[in-house]
Amino acid sequence: MASRYVVSVTVNGEPRTAQVPARMSLADCLREEWGLTGCHVGCEQGACGACTVLLDGRPVRSCLMLAVQASGAQVTTIEGLADGERLHPVQEAFWECHGLQCGFCTPGMVLTVVHLLEQVPAPTETQIRRALSGNLCMCTGYQNIVRAVGWAAARAAE
Ligand code: FES
Ligand code: FES
Repeated sequence: MASRYVVSVTVNGEPRTAQVPARMSLADCLREEWGLTGCHVGCEQGACGACTVLLDGRPVRSCLMLAVQASGAQVTTIEGLADGERLHPVQEAFWECHGLQCGFCTPGMVLTVVHLLEQVPAPTETQIRRALSGNLCMCTGYQNIVRAVGWAAARAAE
């Protein structure tokens, strides 16, 4: 049997531990070991952004990162954003502006936007499109996603 390694990560504020093969990706660890299936896996080669999570507050492609590399880090997945029944403002914005259709890209999009708005509270359309350029959507044509980011920024400024 292949060697397994202990990985200890704080995920959405909760300590999590697993014994994983050295080559298990963070995405697979989140999904298979901890049941956090909101981390979607599409291309598995860093191209689509569906697997984006926040690692110590910064977006990473969890399909390209080994779970053991994340040991000791703080990870935020889409499951960690809502406050009980209350959606995170960026989730609410996607809902209000119809920023999703099938929803496959949405967790990665939302987490990327959360980071963008922390860095740039009132982004221009160009900044929004640039920030989202690594997150592919097969459904929406991006128009409503960009609108959602503007909606969330305006809501935060109220
Ligand atoms: S699944 Fe990770 S970038 Fe596509
Ligand atoms: S909503 Fe379907 S891929 Fe983006």
